[in-house]
Amino acid sequence: MDQNSVYRTNIIGAGEVGCAISVGMDKNSVYKTNSFFWDTKGNDILGATALPFYGAFVSEEKCQLFGDVSGKKMLEIGCGTGRSLQYQGERKASELWAVDISEKQIEKATQHLTACGLSAKLICSPMEEECGIPVDYFDFVYSIYAIGWTTDLEGTFCRIASYLKKDGVFIFSWSHPIHKCVVAENNMLAFKKCYFDESWY
Ligand SMILES: C[S@@+](CC[C@H](N)C(=O)[O-])C[C@H]1O[C@@H](n2cnc3c(N)ncnc32)[C@H](O)[C@@H]1O
Repeated sequence: MDQNSVYRTNIIGAGEVGCAISVGMDKNSVYKTNSFFWDTKGNDILGATALPFYGAFVSEEKCQLFGDVSGKKMLEIGCGTGRSLQYQGERKASELWAVDISEKQIEKATQHLTACGLSAKLICSPMEEECGIPVDYFDFVYSIYAIGWTTDLEGTFCRIASYLKKDGVFIFSWSHPIHKCVVAENNMLAFKKCYFDESWY
């Protein structure tokens, strides 16, 4: 796909490795491309995207957004290889659930959690779709660097709201656009790109 195309209006996922797709495509093609990416190249870019890290510089240990999760029912949106579920399980969450679009990631999460002696209900599905997750059930729904891959942010947020119990909490992290403008150099952060440049990346 031509990355400079004037017809591109928005990008869904994985532009850095050449798997980006425009929002003009139909939903099922988007899911197919997205899951293919996470089944294959996506593994290469998993880094600080699992708890206790919310992403670069921000950690649960510092921010305490969850606090004590013992006895709490947790649902992760886009669980990847299951590292964040492991973190919650080791903090004595009572139930671990997750949804992920990639069969490969679900497979890896299953193996990882089993090796850690934890059990979780893992569902392979796009977060955008109905997939058998119970409603009005969870104390916490969270997503560490996955929510931005949704093709329908409003619909996904509505679903997430339905999964939460009354007074349940949704916590998510996602990349800030400033990350694409700033690089770490000589122990300093330097601006390399204008923050207001909204061109494709
Ligand atoms: C950066 S990884 C998240 C890593 C994870 N937080 C962890 O703790 O290891 C993003 C995940 O989102 C999943 N994902 C991408 N688009 C999705 C979608 N539409 N629905 C569900 N999961 C999706 C990918 O398969 C991938 O596993």
